[in-house]
Amino acid sequence: MKGVILAGGTGSRLWPLTAVISKQLLAVYDKPMIFYPVTTLMFAGVREIAVVTTEAQQESFKATLGSGEKWGIKFEYCVQSEPKGIPDALKSLPISFKNEPIVMILGDNLLYGMGLGSSLAGAFNGTGALAFGYPVANPSEYGVVELDQKGNVKSITEKPVSPKSNLAIPGFYFFDKSVHSKVLELVPSLRGELEITDILKMYKSQSALRISVLERGTAWLDTGTVESLIQAGEFVKVIEDRQGLKIGCPEEVAFREGYITGNEFLKCINNAPTSSYRDYLISVAVEFGLSVI
Ligand code: DAU
Repeated sequence: MKGVILAGGTGSRLWPLTAVISKQLLAVYDKPMIFYPVTTLMFAGVREIAVVTTEAQQESFKATLGSGEKWGIKFEYCVQSEPKGIPDALKSLPISFKNEPIVMILGDNLLYGMGLGSSLAGAFNGTGALAFGYPVANPSEYGVVELDQKGNVKSITEKPVSPKSNLAIPGFYFFDKSVHSKVLELVPSLRGELEITDILKMYKSQSALRISVLERGTAWLDTGTVESLIQAGEFVKVIEDRQGLKIGCPEEVAFREGYITGNEFLKCINNAPTSSYRDYLISVAVEFGLSVI
């Protein structure tokens, strides 16, 4: 399955931090924000990822991520000319993505949890759409899903003033290939954007939408505001300090998941400048008995 990371948008809620840098390249503790969704997709078994950006920022993303080869994956870069909404960005995907099912993650969403990788990989059977539910204290700030007692979807609403449930829909979605024709049928909402929740409603009307409520131990953080950006950074720092393991480290995920060989992992280390990040990669190599020169 092919992956999509949405890294466009204006980042206006984070201005002036985003005056010259894309939100998705800002630091979440010790690495650029986009490393987290990249590794989530890698854990889900995705090897080909389209990164959708604004035209102005595309070069910065290319400089940060490269071709993907060093991590055993392939990035394709495409431009959304105006931020007309999340599903609108799918219109700019390369032709090779247009007739394929996709897994899409918003570039400012961070998912973390035990066994999340393997459970995500097996979560989607390739038909219809699969999205997730996550209980939050502030559902009005998100797309919200209401489920009946059997777990069937009753309603979906984008940023409701009076939410019908506390289940927010994280920015992580699996779609079959019909999503590409569905985006062409959408009309802008009252706030003038194409809404991802309208895509989910289309699948619901065809009885083709499944919502899986993420387990309690899973962390879902978004980083769209100054407050949530700081909280996400603190979260990553606490876990990393406590466990001595990194979250969202593409080199490590690539090596542990078998996307790259030991020698390729050592090459990543050799190409990294002296830094605590490099020291961490060395500690992983040592754990696997690789000799670092
Ligand atoms: O974080 C989850 C929420 O994300 C969902 O619960 C909502 O249903 C969904 O609409 C979305 O809400 P946000 O208000 O947080 O979306 P935002 O405009 O911040 O955009 C999310 C990401 O998508 C961000 O990384 C920028 C990117 N984006 C956004 C738009 C509108 C694009 O690449 N192009 C766009 O046109």
